[in-house]
Amino acid sequence: MLFDQLVHGDRQAMGNDWFESVEARRRAKRRLPRPVYMALVAGSERGLTLRDNLAAFGELGFAPFVAGLLGERDLSTTVLGQELALPVMISPTGVQAVHPEGEVAVARAAAARGTAMALSSFASKPIEEVVAANPRTFFQTYWTAPRDQLLQRLERARAAGAVGLILTLDWSFSHGRDWGSPHIPDQVDLRTMARFAPEALAHPRWFLRWARTGHVPDLTVPNLAPPDGGPAPTFFGAYGEWMQSPAATWDDITWLREQWGGPFLLKGVMRVDDARRAVDAGVSAISVSNHGGNNLDGTPAAIRALPAIAEAVGDQVEVLLDGGIRRGSDVVKALALGARAVMIGRASLWGLAANGQAGVENVLDILRSGIDSALLGLRKASVRDLTPDDLVILPGFARRLGAPVEEPGARPATTDPRHRPAETATPTA
Ligand SMILES: Cc1cc2nc3c(=O)[nH]c(=O)nc-3n(C[C@H](O)[C@H](O)[C@H](O)COP(=O)(O)O)c2cc1C
Repeated sequence: MLFDQLVHGDRQAMGNDWFESVEARRRAKRRLPRPVYMALVAGSERGLTLRDNLAAFGELGFAPFVAGLLGERDLSTTVLGQELALPVMISPTGVQAVHPEGEVAVARAAAARGTAMALSSFASKPIEEVVAANPRTFFQTYWTAPRDQLLQRLERARAAGAVGLILTLDWSFSHGRDWGSPHIPDQVDLRTMARFAPEALAHPRWFLRWARTGHVPDLTVPNLAPPDGGPAPTFFGAYGEWMQSPAATWDDITWLREQWGGPFLLKGVMRVDDARRAVDAGVSAISVSNHGGNNLDGTPAAIRALPAIAEAVGDQVEVLLDGGIRRGSDVVKALALGARAVMIGRASLWGLAANGQAGVENVLDILRSGIDSALLGLRKASVRDLTPDDLVILPGFARRLGAPVEEPGARPATTDPRHRPAETATPTA
């Protein structure tokens, strides 16, 4: 009780909405209509990857000190030339109807906490509004044909002020979920509204938030609107177009990177050989990621694949990680295994659902405080000082995908201890 008053007293005085764990998921569940909530928690098929993303962090331990702890810790870093107050950015999520302010609220929260925002091309808010809320905004795209249309979209993002491009390639159109996919309508018309009315009424806060704006979620993707001012496609219209596009080749990636000409992150890399090819394609950064368990189920946790990838390319490109970050200590573990920073997907969405901009700020505050407390216990002055020696890593933890364990002619490990592999094992995926 005393602890609560000491730590959270001022926040509670501001209203009772502050939460102390990123598990704001429970709040999001209460606040959101079921189909919207289910779209956030979704993982593909059996949910093996989704669960492993979380479980793997639980398998890593810390080796804390008791004396000589440091009074000041520096959490700041840079990603793709952007200064971040903490090593956590917002991951792109194409989600609709969570909150009327959508990605603009998320961008404002990220700006207020000194970090960057990544905007999905499937997001509900236009890039211009998001950049106005947070100048450190990256624009994310998938590989969709035709090329001239893709370039038009990127030109719009560039003109709006996007500071970098994220190309996400880890999507193989798996739509089966053992717990059932939510029904998401193609567009909101009277019939849909009638169908969703009981859900909306069962979640009055969500309903009132939208009612106050005088709008209903329109389920369109404004960043994919044609340049001639025509209407934005619906979420599913755009998704269908993407499904019919041939998959990207490495030449396509090089071409897109050249066309963009600025900071370029390839998201979704899980294999060492892909990471090396990404370096050859000239990318500036990669994110070790399995799309939060939404892609090929059975892919190991991103954190298991990180050490081998960081060892292979960490001295050539910036290596980020996303997938399963729920606590500040998870961030610290990822950094100790070679990530420069992490991105959060669901955590920011739960914060948004729970309490709009303040909810996302709340999530970032929880992560900041968890990172700081781990740095204190580990006697680190900076997030940049973390190494695998700060962790307890049991044998068999890591996965080395796309490279044999004893690789003939393998490059020597870098001398930077941040990039040493924690443990290697044969691929299991
Ligand atoms: C509902 C939802 C929508 C997503 N949409 C996109 C997207 O449009 N583009 C993208 O690159 N990644 C997308 N992702 C993946 C996230 O960027 C990120 O990789 C993932 O959420 C990280 O895992 P976490 O949710 O455990 O933090 C989405 C994830 C979720 C949960």
